[in-house]
Amino acid sequence: MTRHDTLLQWIEEVKLLCQPDNVRWCDGSQAEYDEMCALLVANGTFIKLNESKRPGSFLARSNPNDVARVEDRTYICSNRKVDAGPTNNWMAPAEMKATLRPLFSGCMKGRTMYVVPFCMGPLGSPFSVIGVEVTDSPYVVVSMKIMTRMGKTVLDQLGEGGEFVPCLHSVGKPLAPGEKDVPWPCSDTKYIVHFPEERAIWSYGSGYGGNALLGKKCLALRIASVKGRDEGWMAEHMLISGVESPDGRKTYVAAAFPSACGKTNFAMLVPPKAYEGWKVTTVGDDIAWLRPGSDGRLWATNPEAGYFGVAPGTSWTSNPNAMAACEKNTIFTNVALTDDGDVWWEGMTKELPAHLIDWQGKDWTPDCGRVSSHPNSRFTAPAYQCPTIDPEWERPEGVPIDAIIFGGRRATTMPLVFQAFNWVHGVFLGANMGSETTAAAAGAVGKVRRDPMAMLPFCGYNMGDYFAHWLGMRKRVKDLPRVFHVNWFRKDADGKFLWPGFSENMRVLEWVVKRCRGEGRGHETQLGWMPRYSEMTWRGMEEFGPAEFDKVMQVDPKELRHEILSAEELYIDLYDHLPKEMVFQRELLVGRF
Ligand code: OXD
Ligand code: MN
Repeated sequence: MTRHDTLLQWIEEVKLLCQPDNVRWCDGSQAEYDEMCALLVANGTFIKLNESKRPGSFLARSNPNDVARVEDRTYICSNRKVDAGPTNNWMAPAEMKATLRPLFSGCMKGRTMYVVPFCMGPLGSPFSVIGVEVTDSPYVVVSMKIMTRMGKTVLDQLGEGGEFVPCLHSVGKPLAPGEKDVPWPCSDTKYIVHFPEERAIWSYGSGYGGNALLGKKCLALRIASVKGRDEGWMAEHMLISGVESPDGRKTYVAAAFPSACGKTNFAMLVPPKAYEGWKVTTVGDDIAWLRPGSDGRLWATNPEAGYFGVAPGTSWTSNPNAMAACEKNTIFTNVALTDDGDVWWEGMTKELPAHLIDWQGKDWTPDCGRVSSHPNSRFTAPAYQCPTIDPEWERPEGVPIDAIIFGGRRATTMPLVFQAFNWVHGVFLGANMGSETTAAAAGAVGKVRRDPMAMLPFCGYNMGDYFAHWLGMRKRVKDLPRVFHVNWFRKDADGKFLWPGFSENMRVLEWVVKRCRGEGRGHETQLGWMPRYSEMTWRGMEEFGPAEFDKVMQVDPKELRHEILSAEELYIDLYDHLPKEMVFQRELLVGRF
C-alpha cells in the first residue's frame, strides 16, 4: 500500500469521521475496474450494454436531482473573503468545516470507503499534481480510472513524503443496518468546497461529474489555478489541439469556450474535404495547464486522461472522433437505452428510434413529447480511444502553444473571428467573454452570462487578481501566443445560424494558424485584426460568398455599445482588484468607435 505517514494519518482521520464499514485502497488494475463494474451492475447503478454493439460499456441513470454541477453550492473557502472575490461563494474555512463536519460524521455508514490515488498529468512529469480522493461511490472510482491516471503507480510515485491534494467525497447517504441501497445514492444537501491555501477539497451530497470526480474541475482548475498563480503558471478551461499543414508543419492552439459550446467538437475537428493534407490532432478537450518554457514559449499539458463529454448533439456527422472514442469501454450517464441494449441521444441520428427507455427509466417514443436523454447527459471515455489523439499528448513538458482562442455562444454582436492587437488586448477580450447560457449551468437558458476566459465557475481566487496574473505572463513568456476571438453561433434576424460551424471552422483555424506563422493576411479594424473574404479559403464552400461573409463578420456599433455597457457590471463587482490595463483597454475600445 503506502508508507506515506501524512496520507495514512489523513485516511485514519477520515475513517473516524465518516465511519465506513470497510476501507479499500484502489490499485487501478483492470481486474479491480471489472470487479467494480460488476458491483455497480449488481447494485442497479449500471446497466451492461450489448457487448457486440458497445463492448465493455455501461449505462448509469442518476437521481433526477443530481444531473449537473451545482455552482450555487460551490465554495472557495480562502482565509480572506477578498481572495475568493465577488464571483465565488465564500465562507471562512473554520466556519465551513464546522458546517461540514456534522454532515460527514457517519456519512459512510453501511458503505465501503474507497481510497483513490490519482495523478493529474502524465505519471512521472515534474508538472503533474497528485491527489487522493476518498469516496464512498464505486461509480466515482471507475470514472476516475478513465479520467485520470489512477492507482498503485500513483502511490509509488508519491513515495513516503510526496505532496498530494486530499479530496474528500461522499454521496451523503449512509445506510442503516439492513437498509437497501438505491441505484444512485445522493443527498438533497450539497457542498462542493475548496480550501485553496490548504490545497484541500471536500465534496458532499452529489455523485455526478464535476461535483464528484474531484480531479477535474475541483483540482485541475480551482485548486490548480491558485497553485499556478503562486508558482507562475496557468490552469485554464481550454482544449488543446494541433494543426498540421500539408507541408508537415505543426501549430498548437489552446481555446477557451464556456461549458457546452462544442469544445470537444472543436478539439476533434475533422477538416472538410477541400483541406486534403491538413490534419487536426487532439491533446485535450477541456483543461490546459500552461507553463512558461525555458525556450521563452508557452507550453501546454492536458492533465486529464479521458473525456467527460456532453452526449446530445454528438453524432458521426458532428463529431466522428468522439463517436469513435466512445464506441467501447465507455460509461454513459443519463442517455437513453435502445431496445437492442445500445445507447441513443438527441442528435445522434437523424432518424428517431421507434422506442427507447429514457434517462429516467421510462418508455419513450418519438411522439411522447419528452427528450430521451438529459441535456447534460455524458459519455466518459478514455482519451487514447480518440482516433485523432496527438502523438505528443502525454509528453511531460507538453506542446508549445502559438495561439489562444476565446469564444462564446453569441447570437449577435460578435463576428466570426478577429485577432487581438497584442497580449494585453487579448487578455481584455478574454476577460470580457460572454456566452448564452445552456443546460450545463443553472439559470435562464439563452441569457448572456459574462464568463471571463470561460473560468467563471472554475477560478479558485479573486477574478481581478486572475486578470492581473494573465497580464503578468507577458513578463514570464518572451514569445507569447497570438490571441483570437471567435463566434460560431451568430444568427440572422430569423434565428438561423449564419455560419455552418463544425468542419467548416477549419477555415477560421487555417487563418489563425497562418497569422501565427506570419503568413495570414488581415486588416486592422476597431475590434482587432480581421480577415477579408479574399484572405480566407473557400474551396468546397463556394456558396458562402462575400455577402454571407459580411453578415457573419459585421460589427454593429449599437450592439457593441450594449456589449461594453453590459461588461461593465463585472468591472464594478471587481472594482479595486481590476487591473488598470482593463480600464485602459475599455477606453481605447470606446475611443476607436
Ligand atoms: C464540463 C463543463 O463538464 O465545463 O466540462 O461543465
Ligand atoms: Mn468544461
